[in-house]
Amino acid sequence: MTTIKDGGQDVVYAAKMLVTTSRTNDSLALAGVMLILGSLSWTLPALAADRESAFRGRRLAEANCAPCHALAQFDGSENAEAPPFRHLGRRRPLATLRDEMLADLFLRHAVMPDFEPDRRQVDDIVTYIESIQE
Ligand code: HEC
Repeated sequence: MTTIKDGGQDVVYAAKMLVTTSRTNDSLALAGVMLILGSLSWTLPALAADRESAFRGRRLAEANCAPCHALAQFDGSENAEAPPFRHLGRRRPLATLRDEMLADLFLRHAVMPDFEPDRRQVDDIVTYIESIQE
């Protein structure tokens, strides 16, 4: 009798353990999901903003840079001297490109057009250039 009873208690105990552990796992899983959702809600708008900026940058590049530079992933530059945008990061650090464009980059290269972009246009063009680096 006692053995059976003990056994029964053991089963109840084991079942309780199971419920408790699965509850703990559930809340851990829930915490994990909330953490992921939480970080997504931070990163998604940032990613969307980047995509829009890169899109505007691409449009600006098509209008102003395409006569010489290759803009996309597989094309060649119309002007053999002009580096494809996807390779710019190989020749120079991209981190300073925004500042240089706002300063005198377009004046330094005589062949490049007199293009006086504002801060946002520069930001968009560089975001686009960054997005296609190989
Ligand atoms: C008329 C042709 C032409 C046009 C249009 C042109 N470029 Fe260039 N670009 C060049 C040439 C040629 C070079 C290479 C010159 C050199 O590096 O000495 C160059 C170089 C560059 C470089 C590298 C400069 C460096 O110092 O690393 C950047 C960045 C660049 N161009 C951006 C642009 C952007 C952005 C546009 C459009 C707003 C543009 N270019 C339009 C001809 C052009």
